[in-house]
Amino acid sequence: TGWWPLVSAQLRSVALGCTKVGKTSLIMSLVSEEFPDEVPLRAEEITIPADVTPERVPTHIVDYSEAEQSDEQLYQEISKANVICIVYSVNNKKSIEKVSLVSVVPLILVGNKSDLVEHSSMETILPIMNQYQDIETCVECSAKNLKNISELFYYAQKAVLHPTGPLYCPEEKE
Ligand code: GTP
Ligand code: MG
Repeated sequence: TGWWPLVSAQLRSVALGCTKVGKTSLIMSLVSEEFPDEVPLRAEEITIPADVTPERVPTHIVDYSEAEQSDEQLYQEISKANVICIVYSVNNKKSIEKVSLVSVVPLILVGNKSDLVEHSSMETILPIMNQYQDIETCVECSAKNLKNISELFYYAQKAVLHPTGPLYCPEEKE
């Protein structure tokens, strides 16, 4: 399927990334607008209705848990997704490694837990951004203090509906 039918259809966003980077916390912070002290391994799939999304497209948000899902289920989710948010933790450089995933949909690099560090992780991820042209956007955020959570959601919608250019650090993507 191409991009354009999505405008009237539905959008499916899947959160991937290493264990404990905060995928489930991010999703639950987005939905409840507060940081959950305790989270399940995997958030239930949620649908955000069109009228409360920035681009007016109903959006499914799907969590992934290595502990609860098989590789087969992972590939299925990836194949159904319109956009994939690769979450890493800005205080754990190793968690960026998952970016080597090859993808047919736009990717968004999400650096979670920005509340834990003073510096930005952009220097580390710029080479990755340059290497993988599928990466539309990168954003640093925090599920804990709700920083950039709604922006992340906005970028994910934008990446699907207007996939031509990056919205963030455009000069580095040249
Ligand atoms: P798995 O499902 O096991 O792969 O982990 P996950 O990626 O879903 O991470 P989860 O949401 O379970 O969070 C892991 C830990 O990080 C929990 O203790 C969270 O409270 C904590 N955490 C999540 N987001 C943040 C954040 O923005 N800041 C801080 N300081 N801690 C966070
Ligand atoms: Mg989880």
